[in-house]
Amino acid sequence: MAEKYRERAAVRAQEQIAAGIFSMWLEAGEIARAARPGQFISIYSNDSGRLLPRPISICETDPERGLLRIVYRVAGKGTEEFSQAQAGDAFDILGPLGNGFPTERCPQGKKAFLIGGGIGIPPMVELSKSLAGEVQVIAGYRDELFLTEELSANGTLYLATEDGSAGTKGNVLDCIRGNGLSADVIYACGPTPMLRAVKAYAQEQGIECWLSLEERMACGIGACLACVCRSKEIDEHSQVHNKRICKEGPVFRAEDVEL
Ligand SMILES: Cc1cc2nc3c(=O)[nH]c(=O)nc-3n(C[C@H](O)[C@H](O)[C@H](O)COP(=O)(O)OP(=O)(O)OC[C@H]3O[C@@H](n4cnc5c(N)ncnc54)[C@H](O)[C@@H]3O)c2cc1C
Ligand code: FES
Repeated sequence: MAEKYRERAAVRAQEQIAAGIFSMWLEAGEIARAARPGQFISIYSNDSGRLLPRPISICETDPERGLLRIVYRVAGKGTEEFSQAQAGDAFDILGPLGNGFPTERCPQGKKAFLIGGGIGIPPMVELSKSLAGEVQVIAGYRDELFLTEELSANGTLYLATEDGSAGTKGNVLDCIRGNGLSADVIYACGPTPMLRAVKAYAQEQGIECWLSLEERMACGIGACLACVCRSKEIDEHSQVHNKRICKEGPVFRAEDVEL
């Protein structure tokens, strides 16, 4: 099993990049050097009343400078606290966690769709830097855009917005169909209805597909079973049709999970 580290990570910089969406660079050299695209970190609150860490995907890393970036939406108390941090403040973090995307499935000569919806968009930044094949990013937003510069730096970026204010009006699949795009492999992260639709599309088109699931978590390290999803195969450990998203995931082959 890959090494994970617990670090006291200082905030190098933080900025708001869209309404309720924040970008934070953390000084966490061990994790930044070990992380693969699609893995996540657990961030602990500095408030002793909030014991459980919050899982947040690694958006990108700068291993040489020992930095990693997270991009997150303020959803409740934990993320609200993180959003108020300033350079020099620090959080305990654990990572890299989970398995990450299989980048070797898109070698040179192959084409990939990197499909991100809402807060599932951030991990696509590091993934887009890591594939040898052709990168086509399809990013679906409710309205306001974020990370578009980073996402277009290593591939072609296609946008879908619910209100039609940018790119295709509609969802990520409307965007793929509307632009007549094709791919050999799909990597996707986003809300469950989007993942369900992407899985059905991949099946219909016969395209290999990898999904990153973002369920609620508690321990983040495989110990509590708070994050299980239904799987096709029986889990060796529990002998039931369950997989722990934090441990066996968050990335799964689409046909191996029921959504
Ligand atoms: C592997 C993984 C990667 C993630 N990556 C990101 C990311 O890159 N950026 C980001 O903004 N968020 C990400 N999330 C979701 C993030 O963990 C939650 O938004 C966060 O834990 C909420 O904490 P809170 O204390 O602010 O809110 P809470 O008070 O705990 O919850 C506030 C609201 O958010 C909902 N919520 C809590 N956890 C989740 C969850 N896991 N998924 C969906 N809804 C949730 C609750 O039901 C509630 O309505 C990720 C989750 C997982 C499991
Ligand atoms: S969050 Fe505890 S087992 Fe996954």
